[in-house]
Amino acid sequence: MKIAFVGFGNVARAFARIIDERRTELAHRFDLTLSTVAIATANHGSVRSTDSIDLINAVACVEQGGNLTRLPQTIPIADTQSLLEGCDADLIFETTPLNIEGGQPAVTHIRTALRRGIHVVTANKGPIAFAYEELRSLAQEHEVEFRFEGTVMDGAPVFNLVESCLPGARVLGFSGVLNSTTNLILTEMESGHSFEESLKEAQRLGIAETNAEHDIDGWDAAVKAVALANVLMNANAHPADVAREGIAGITVENLKSASESGSTLRLIARARLSERGIRLSVAPEKMSVTSLFGSARGTSNVLMLETDLMGELAIVENNPGVEQTAYALLSDLLNIHRSFSRSKK
Ligand SMILES: NC(=O)c1ccc[n+]([C@@H]2O[C@H](COP(=O)([O-])OP(=O)(O)OC[C@H]3O[C@@H](n4cnc5c(N)ncnc54)[C@H](OP(=O)(O)O)[C@@H]3O)[C@@H](O)[C@H]2O)c1
Repeated sequence: MKIAFVGFGNVARAFARIIDERRTELAHRFDLTLSTVAIATANHGSVRSTDSIDLINAVACVEQGGNLTRLPQTIPIADTQSLLEGCDADLIFETTPLNIEGGQPAVTHIRTALRRGIHVVTANKGPIAFAYEELRSLAQEHEVEFRFEGTVMDGAPVFNLVESCLPGARVLGFSGVLNSTTNLILTEMESGHSFEESLKEAQRLGIAETNAEHDIDGWDAAVKAVALANVLMNANAHPADVAREGIAGITVENLKSASESGSTLRLIARARLSERGIRLSVAPEKMSVTSLFGSARGTSNVLMLETDLMGELAIVENNPGVEQTAYALLSDLLNIHRSFSRSKK
């Protein structure tokens, strides 16, 4: 399978390391050999190759602040759109940053690839929140797959769980701790660390959004809530529909006083069916430290699905890092490979 990367940041590089380390297993166990034909970035060059690009060299180049055009046997490409229009990949990994004002340019990247009959895997939740219906229809029309497991709760199976394991059940609502950066900040602040120190720790771990204000202000959680509602509840919602409050106003004192009554604060995303449709919200809430949400510490995420036939079902992801999002790209890749290998037989 010929693959290409649009975005080669923390997530894509962690994924590149996994597929390089697992090359032999992918070939033997899944009959899958990968060749990287193009990589696009914003500030580290964009290249295609007539041969396969050595991913470990590409990772080292970007991590040393270099430019991908210096890699051997690569041809520089002027911009991402030209790369997408000209590259002969079977599958593109789109991992550019979240844009909370419309999801661009990722929506255009994905649209271009799908129209050209290229499968797309993304970890970018913007396109699912802003253009899910359109992109899903485009994928169907062009008989390719569009997968996005990493957009909510990293590699924990959320969309795959409902799609593959809950056939016939309806999702009526959900609630959850969906943003790792704010959860880490709140947990660190519980131990007396300052807001700034805690944010720095999230950035060091590579889990903060490119623009960390999107985490702090609740935008990331809001966009995830919309992605979940659009895919699992056919909500056709928009991030602006979410009643949103972030964690910027929370102080170490607030957390200390909550802990005196055995509670803590968590940023909770909710979707509820009401008479006027689906109501979406993101806000800090006081939770008992022994509750499911209150006990989620560090980068942990929790999602509680409310379904008609299966009642309440919770998924807990314990202290994920960037590797778990990279795993989402791997699981999407293998699912696409599996379904297309079957359809060829
Ligand atoms: N990090 C996580 O734990 C995590 C978890 C779940 C989901 N996600 C999502 O995954 C995506 C990637 O996250 P990340 O942490 O890898 O971000 P990141 O480290 O900031 O990397 C973003 C990459 O996109 C590139 N880029 C920006 N604009 C581009 C454009 N127009 N064309 C081509 N490349 C472009 C950047 O290039 P330069 O470096 O050259 O500027 C960089 O390589 C985001 O949408 C994020 O919300 C991340």
